[in-house]
Amino acid sequence: MEGTHQGKEDLAAANRKFWNDHGREVFKQQWVLDMSKKVSDALSNSVQWMGVRGRSEGSAPVKLLDYACGYGMVSSTLLGQFDIIRGIDISEASVASYNELAQKSGVPVEKMHAVQGSIPPPLDNTLLTTEEFFDFDLIAISMALHHIEDQAGVLSGLYERLRSGGVLVVIDLAPETHSHNHAQDSECGDHDDYHTQHKARVRHTISRHGGYGIEDMRDLLYKAGFVPESFDYQLYPNTSPHASNIPDHGTCKNFSTKPFFIAKSAKE
Ligand SMILES: C[S@@+](CC[C@H](N)C(=O)[O-])C[C@H]1O[C@@H](n2cnc3c(N)ncnc32)[C@H](O)[C@@H]1O
Repeated sequence: MEGTHQGKEDLAAANRKFWNDHGREVFKQQWVLDMSKKVSDALSNSVQWMGVRGRSEGSAPVKLLDYACGYGMVSSTLLGQFDIIRGIDISEASVASYNELAQKSGVPVEKMHAVQGSIPPPLDNTLLTTEEFFDFDLIAISMALHHIEDQAGVLSGLYERLRSGGVLVVIDLAPETHSHNHAQDSECGDHDDYHTQHKARVRHTISRHGGYGIEDMRDLLYKAGFVPESFDYQLYPNTSPHASNIPDHGTCKNFSTKPFFIAKSAKE
């Protein structure tokens, strides 16, 4: 299936359906909230590292595209750094959650809103060909690349939407180091069961298992057209896998999160 037109369509359709049917419930799971919090903290601490120009009066609005935006974790984290934020997601339910969050947070729709779609856009999606969806200072794709079939194709589609000097940031899972303590894991049976069930349920929406190492990302971004010199990769290993596995009345209060990375590359 990999690389074929049919394969791309199938995986995109499977994701649209899965996130439409189950997204709201998945985004509320405690381990997803824990993971989102870690990614959000890492992003907040990486604003300087990303190197996005600051907002200033008289200069062009600073623009963020949150691709595969889900309910908007990236956009809400970076809200203060941008004048205009647009989200794109293949799932209508994800887009609705994103726009609800923006509205509840009192952010004007002109500043922040999401639309249903994908990159490269299908021929009938004329909205994504308008100026509004180009010339971004930063494009972020968080925890979604592993759901995409033609990863280099999507990344090069995002490259085209950056302004010159703009930066793409990819956040995704990093390879696991397999240093699990099974004795403690067994205390967390409920979570293991949940995770096994969750993995089985999402398997058909995933194109890549096992995470992306530094060389995988360097290669992908190079193939998508980014200048190799601008590449950087920050690893956030799961430094305390056991501390969060402390049983609380027979169940695990917190589920240990997975290792992830933030990679960046700039457009010349
Ligand atoms: C795990 S969620 C991540 C959401 C968000 N970026 C975050 O970090 O919280 C994956 C999201 O990717 C979206 N998605 C999956 N495949 C996509 C595609 N080909 N194009 C756009 N969005 C896609 C799903 O609908 C879902 O909202």
